Formats: sequence, structure tokens, C-alpha cells
Amino acid sequence: MFFIKNLSQNNTEHETVLQDQLLATHYLITLTHTTLERLGLFDVLRKKTEPAAIDELSKIIKVRTDILEACINFLWSTTNYLEKNGQKIILKNNPPKWFWIATYKPVFDNLESLLKGTKKYGNDVVRDGYYLQKMSITINNPVENYIVQQLQEIKEKSILVDLGCGPGTLLSRVSAANPLIEGLGIDVDPIITDIAQKNVMRSRRPIKIITADVTKIHFWKKHIPSNVNLIFSANSILHELLRDGEERFISFLKTLKGAFPGSRFFVTEINALSPQEIKNMRSNDYKFFMAMFMFTHPLTEQGLPRSKKEWLSFFKKSQWSVMRTEQPKNNDARIIYDCLL
Ligand SMILES: C[S@@+](CC[C@H](N)C(=O)[O-])C[C@H]1O[C@@H](n2cnc3c(N)ncnc32)[C@H](O)[C@@H]1O
Repeated sequence: MFFIKNLSQNNTEHETVLQDQLLATHYLITLTHTTLERLGLFDVLRKKTEPAAIDELSKIIKVRTDILEACINFLWSTTNYLEKNGQKIILKNNPPKWFWIATYKPVFDNLESLLKGTKKYGNDVVRDGYYLQKMSITINNPVENYIVQQLQEIKEKSILVDLGCGPGTLLSRVSAANPLIEGLGIDVDPIITDIAQKNVMRSRRPIKIITADVTKIHFWKKHIPSNVNLIFSANSILHELLRDGEERFISFLKTLKGAFPGSRFFVTEINALSPQEIKNMRSNDYKFFMAMFMFTHPLTEQGLPRSKKEWLSFFKKSQWSVMRTEQPKNNDARIIYDCLL
């Protein structure tokens, strides 16, 4: 529905104008939809079984009725997921979730200031933690399935420590699948730990969530009881720590090994590609995902994602043993490194 056609050099002037309009319309659909998603409109609509009036919706999400109506008219006429009859609307098809864009919208809204250096990510601008964890939930199943399956074999009382735990779903699933495993989730973002806390409470398993920076090991280590088998996971977080350079990163991995020798450690990271490799890719969907994924990292003061070869080299330099690598889903660039400290 939203596929962007390849721009060809042989287009007629008319085709070029049409393509420009198509790109501009896609841009406005994305911007409008994401703004309404962030304001909660689609959360309200997803729960409605009957058409809802626009003025009623505007009161619920606390926005101006006239501008909301303009947004809805635009989305209704350019997409196929809304049904509108007079002043009433209902979702017809599943609308795109676009949680990824909702997560990074505050960053792209400030792109000019970030480029000029008048604002800095982390101080003046931050990505949206609420949508970050919502995005995690939509993409994590294959990685979680692998870890849950591996940990079903564990026969002794253990704690799974999930570094950068996001919504906490991995901890709930592992602990539900193997009652010998309790959980400790650590995340630096208080919005995310708040949501994780609510999520794990629903699982009624002994899982603790704390707000902390994973690099401050002395701070979170005190939450781990002694004499218990420890298992660790760090899914889609370690590359963020590369922002301080490889030397400090490797020193962090070595410190983890020193503090928890012999522990099993699952790391998941995207097998990153260079700009040239992305440019040469044939499959458009994967190409766009990879281009967007690589783009956000320099804007958000994260370390750049790395290739599988580089990850294996980091583990080797830190004297971690990689027992196995697993690609949990075809056509998914994520790789799980099943390690021993
Ligand atoms: C891309 S998300 C991944 C979340 C989850 N592990 C998953 O697989 O869906 C990265 C998470 O790491 C957290 N994070 C980033 N840097 C961190 C740090 N230094 N200490 C603790 N958490 C951190 C972020 O807040 C975010 O929730």
C-alpha cells in the first residue's frame, strides 16, 4: 500500500511530478499517522467495535476537533484502513503500527538542531521509551522463542538477568516456561521499567525490575542473591554501549566476565551492513529496514551496530566463549550469540 516506486532516470516530466506527489503524500501520511498514534487515537480506535464520532474522539485524546477532522479526512482519502461515514469513523483494516517511527519522531523533529549542534541527544532530545518497548513487543518473538527453548533445559534454581530488559516479556516467558528460573530486569529508562514492572506483575512470577545503567555493575549486582546459578541476556542493547569506543566496551565485557565467571550469556545483535552493502541490496523491504536502522544510531549517540564478524572479534578480545550462533528467523538480520563467560 505504501510502497515507494523506484525513481527512474527515464521518467517523463509528468511521471516525475506524480512520483514527487506520491513521496510527499507518503511523508504526510507517516507524519500524521504517527502523531495520532502518539496521541492515543489508534489505541482508542483499536478498542472500539462501533463507529465513533470525531468530536467524541477529540475529547478523549484532548485535541482540537477541527484539526483532528482534517487529519482523519486526509488519512481516509489516501489510505484504506479507516471507514468514515459522516462524522463517524471506525478502523477497517489493521492500520500500520509504525512504532519505530513513533519512537524516533522526537529525534527527526529535531534533525535540524541535531545537525547544527544546537541540541544534543540525551540532553535536549530523547527517543520515546513508550514506543520503543511497544516496538520490542512486536518484533521479539523469534529471539525470545530461542532463549525460552534453551532455558527449558535448566534443572537448578537460577536467575535470568536481562540487561536492557525493555518490556520484560522475555523474563515473563522464560520464568513461566521453567519455574526454576526467576528474573531480574534492568533498564536505564524509567518509563520502560515502569511498563516492564506492570507487565511482569501480570505473569505472577518472581521477577524484579530495576532502573539502572547496566554499565554500573556494582549498583545492580547487589540485587542478585549469592549462591544461585546466573544466566544473562542482553538483546539489542550492547551496540548502544559502543558509543564510548571499543576499548571501554571490551573493558565492560571483561568486567562482566570477572564479576560472573562461567555464566551463560545470550547476546542478540543485528548483523549490520555498510552503506555500500545496503546500497547494493536487492530486497527492498530489508534494504529500507537496514538503512533506517543504521541511520538512527549516529543521531541518538548510540554506538554504530556492527557486523557478525566484528561481534565475534569483540567476544574473542573479551575472552568470552561463543558456544553457538543462531539466526532465529530467515530474512531477519538478528543473530543470537550463545556465550559462556
Ligand atoms: C532496543 S531496546 C531492546 C529491549 C529488549 N532487550 C528487547 O530485546 O526488545 C534497548 C533497551 O536497552 C535500554 N538501555 C540502553 N542503554 C542502557 C544502559 N546503559 N543501561 C540499561 N539499559 C539500557 C534501553 O532503554 C532499551 O530499553
